Amino acid sequence: LENGVARTPPMGWNTWNTFGCNIDETLIKQTADALVSSGMRDLGYQYVVVDDCWFDPNRDQAGNIQANPSRFPGGMKALGDYLHARGLKFGLYQAPLDRTCAQYFGAYPGATGSQGHEVQDARQFAAWGVDYLKYDWCSPTGTIDDQVRTFAKMRDALAATGRPILYSINPNSIHEKTGPRRDWGDVANIWRTTEDITNAWNTGQTNGYPMGIQNIVDVNVPLAGYARPGQFNDPDMMVVGRGGMNDTEMRSHFALWAVMAAPLIAGNDIRNMNSATSTIMKNQNLIAINQDPLGLQAVQVGNDGTRRVLAKRLSNGDVAVALFNQGGTTTTISTTASAVGLNGNSFTLRDAWTNAVTTTTGTISASVPSHGTVVFRVSGGTPAPPATRIQGAGSGRCLD
Ligand code: GLA
Repeated sequence: LENGVARTPPMGWNTWNTFGCNIDETLIKQTADALVSSGMRDLGYQYVVVDDCWFDPNRDQAGNIQANPSRFPGGMKALGDYLHARGLKFGLYQAPLDRTCAQYFGAYPGATGSQGHEVQDARQFAAWGVDYLKYDWCSPTGTIDDQVRTFAKMRDALAATGRPILYSINPNSIHEKTGPRRDWGDVANIWRTTEDITNAWNTGQTNGYPMGIQNIVDVNVPLAGYARPGQFNDPDMMVVGRGGMNDTEMRSHFALWAVMAAPLIAGNDIRNMNSATSTIMKNQNLIAINQDPLGLQAVQVGNDGTRRVLAKRLSNGDVAVALFNQGGTTTTISTTASAVGLNGNSFTLRDAWTNAVTTTTGTISASVPSHGTVVFRVSGGTPAPPATRIQGAGSGRCLD
């Protein structure tokens, strides 16, 4: 979406994965402070997104949406001011139809959806200083056409406020999964491509709740052609630091989100991070690869069912190469500079995890543990001729 924001994938934190409906303004403020003191804000983690359950189920007499007064006694404007004063940005969650997803499951009954209130709600969000709206299709009904129309109404209402607001949509909640079947870049800045993530490597689900890292990668990798500045596939918020996986798998999760040009939205408790978690999420090599201004998502250039190779072209001519072992034992994964779109006969490889620099005449290879991902930044070549060059964009709007 060409609205001036999300020129690179958004980075930040969201309440949902750790706190669900158990949120209030103290939690948000403490997390904002932790984003600053941990150094994460300065690495790019800017958006603080208050997910489901922040609102009062009833609108006021003028039909305005309002915050839950016991969870947010200071009000949303003051919360936005608190975040902005710390160099952070303010995100809020809302649903278009008669319910949010927590309401759907009965956690918080009421009817607050924005349908029919789009202009009023967008103005309210802008007046509160909202910089990011997550808009979640929590209804069992609706065709893709209904979704496009409904999501586009809020897109237009946000644009009409004049405030730059990053627009994040989820076509996939409580619904036949439509996210992966369409390029939503004409509607939103980021769009969910899968069902919800959980703290697991592999749940065996590719089209239902809950999904593990491996499952999400399987769905999201083929959608690489949709990513470009202003619009990115959203394979869901991260679960780094949430348990359920070993450190190799956690590192792999972060590395794969980085090369897939995914939003890097932390979902752990930032106030209580151990050093392994913080080291993963603060990896500057991977953040730079994710935030590269070319805005391309890695394309898969090799997959034998166990060993997968993903390549992300970068703005300075380098290519980030991810060697991902989805098998159960350590294995060597190899590719070549020409296979990732580079000509030449002398290259340097910087390992994104260890910073070790090696040279090669063309072979790119590493021993990779089970479920591990080694990432090299490959420099020194010249982009291969257009015919073999890695393309980042170019597919049509609908996959149907
Ligand atoms: C859906 C979304 C989640 C979260 C919850 C809130 O499940 O996919 O990311 O927003 O709703 O209820």
